[in-house]
Amino acid sequence: MDETAKTVAESRVTLGLMMGPEHANALGNVHGGVIMKFVDEAGALAAMRHARCPVVTVAIDSMTFLEPIFVGHLVWFNAELTYAGRTSMESRVEVIAEDPLTGATTHTNLAFLVYVAIDENRRPTPVPRLIAETEEEKQRMALAQKRQEMRKQRQQNEQ
Ligand SMILES: CC(C)(COP(=O)(O)OP(=O)(O)OC[C@H]1O[C@@H](n2cnc3c(N)ncnc32)[C@H](O)[C@@H]1OP(=O)(O)O)[C@@H](O)C(=O)NCCC(=O)NCCS
Repeated sequence: MDETAKTVAESRVTLGLMMGPEHANALGNVHGGVIMKFVDEAGALAAMRHARCPVVTVAIDSMTFLEPIFVGHLVWFNAELTYAGRTSMESRVEVIAEDPLTGATTHTNLAFLVYVAIDENRRPTPVPRLIAETEEEKQRMALAQKRQEMRKQRQQNEQ
């Protein structure tokens, strides 16, 4: 038995942030780049909690902004690991915007990011195996494996 293996639940993380004027344009819409930064932070935290070492972002899949997010919204960034390779990990980050006055929530983004665990020399270092427990986690892991294969293929084609 692999005693270093960890479940998806062990590294799952949620960040909750209130969007202020510093996050938005003159119309009160939160900048896409601000959302991307917090998505990256949430995804990296899940990866760090799994690996318990520093990680760097190596790939970010395309991100679609389904609904606007406005100043005053409380934004939740729910991140969990969907895949762990030898040194790389994929995080799934879901973004939910909540109007704290009404409680209305909107699903605004879904993003997949890949991180690599690094050692003191900034070189890739092995991570624990990931255990998918629920049916949903197992399905997400199967899709993540396919996405990672496609990224590797794309990378080879670009060289
Ligand atoms: C991430 C980094 C350390 C990887 O170094 P490398 O010499 O390419 O290492 P490897 O080829 O051994 O790849 C390491 C892992 O990353 C994966 N990987 C590399 N490029 C990838 C890509 N474009 N997409 C997905 N996975 C990728 C590999 O498949 C491998 O995974 P595995 O160990 O689970 O099989 C190096 O590319 C780097 O430092 N990049 C800059 C990171 C950075 O500054 N990010 C922004 C700020 S955090």
